[in-house]
Amino acid sequence: MNVHNLRHALEAIVGPAGLVCDPERMASYLSDWRNAYRGKAALVVRPATTVEVAAVVRLCHEQRIAVVPQGGNTGLCGGSIPDDSGTQVVLSLTRLNRIREIDTANETITVEAGVILQTLQAAAAEAGRLFPLSLGAQGSCTVGGNLATNAGGTAVLRYGNMRDLTLGLEVVLPDGQIWNGLRGLRKDNTGDDLKHLFIGSEGTLGIITAAVLKLYPAVCSVTTAWVALPSAEAAIELIGLVRGLCGDRLTGFELMSRQSVEFVLRHVTGCSDPFDQIHPWYVLIELSDTQPEAPLNELLETGMGQALERGWVTDAVLAGNQAQVAALWALREGISEAQNHEGPSLKHDISVPVSLIPAFIQATDNRLLDDFPGVRIVAYGHVGDGNLHYNISKPAGSDDDAFTAQRAAITQIIYDATTRFHGSISAEHGIGQAKREAAQHYKDPLELQLMRTLKTTLDPQGLMNPGKLFQWL
Ligand code: FAD
Ligand code: MLT
Ligand code: ZN
Repeated sequence: MNVHNLRHALEAIVGPAGLVCDPERMASYLSDWRNAYRGKAALVVRPATTVEVAAVVRLCHEQRIAVVPQGGNTGLCGGSIPDDSGTQVVLSLTRLNRIREIDTANETITVEAGVILQTLQAAAAEAGRLFPLSLGAQGSCTVGGNLATNAGGTAVLRYGNMRDLTLGLEVVLPDGQIWNGLRGLRKDNTGDDLKHLFIGSEGTLGIITAAVLKLYPAVCSVTTAWVALPSAEAAIELIGLVRGLCGDRLTGFELMSRQSVEFVLRHVTGCSDPFDQIHPWYVLIELSDTQPEAPLNELLETGMGQALERGWVTDAVLAGNQAQVAALWALREGISEAQNHEGPSLKHDISVPVSLIPAFIQATDNRLLDDFPGVRIVAYGHVGDGNLHYNISKPAGSDDDAFTAQRAAITQIIYDATTRFHGSISAEHGIGQAKREAAQHYKDPLELQLMRTLKTTLDPQGLMNPGKLFQWL
């Protein structure tokens, strides 16, 4: 089928409002947030219902046309960007954006894949509940993208990642069949839990069209602190201490190197350093509780007092009002954007056991700075989950291309160290196209074989997001 006929056939399914063919309008669907990946597409189709998604996928299946699912296009591994053949169809889920049901007795919310994460959080809040997934891109990323990448973010240490927050899914399979697994059950031992096949599969096994997600009691008091530390080791001691004192009230514990904070101070308007002195490391701590008058400040002050005595903390400030809370989070959430202003950077979203984070940082920093003098190591992340964003910016003032040419060697040092420290080369962002070859190299061969078996069983023609996650398709 040529593009002209394809366009007409798709228009018959989704109507003119559901098609984007004009090159100018297509452009935003064809490159990612960082402009690190660019592709071409035959067209972009934007169905508005699950039935329309199924009809589009069925047509593409019959015509052997590859489909690239896309949500908010905030992914950091190039998973939502088509290849450069110009033959693939980008299937955007953004019009599938209804909140279908809120069931407060069952503590669930049923939403379509194109609902923006922030809209979901607001809907939960309006119902007097909390939907806890929280990440820097929440104003644009979608539930479908969160599910397809098994997104993490800043509240995982208390509530888990997207997989932990999901009870049921509705999925359009690669041949266009609709699997209705929209069950809000917390107990269902009737064999394999099929939703987990699709969560984290990055659009390679089917298109997620809706989900039943867990709700939690609304949070009524919050305390946020910005804390200076002498070392990364101190962060591990400190999280143990704060956890012991506060238990589940610890909902955020974000580690940042001075380099990360310096980039934010330089590039993000309105951010300022809470301290006069420079410190090598910082953590942002958030405590929260469902009781309005919970003694969170007192708890945190006790913790900080003990940590100061033990030398784990060198300075600390508690946010006194909502504006200060926002200012502290802006220092943390601004790192990704700020790093973009410093020229090309290499992202490494790794995890190692929490206890090994300091040793990982020390060994890897030393090796990188020996082999690539001047590179700027922007290490930060969700330290309570063992998840470091160990990102590397080029040496200040150096040539972009010379730095990019060193990409493979730098990344190999980091992934080899991750493996040595019993970690994973992708903690929360996924594989996409960015880590396709690396996954082939670092992942267990039997696991790869099992994944291949699943892929070829569900999608024998290899039409669902080809070139992503799997190196061999
Ligand atoms: P997209 O980028 O559109 O797609 C991502 C992948 O999912 C692609 O492979 C795509 O094909 C697939 N996909 C999308 N929708 C569907 C669907 N309905 N069915 C099947 N497959 C689908 N991620 C974290 O985990 N934690 C963070 O803390 C975090 N912080 C970020 C901060 C910033 C500033 C930015 C820009 C990104 C951050 N991310 C983070 C990465 C990103 O926001 C998440 O991966 C997010 O879940 C992607 O959602 P999306 O809707 O933008 O998906
Ligand atoms: C974050 O936690 O800020 C993002 O996941 C990290 C990134 O942009 O590398
Ligand atoms: Zn992150």
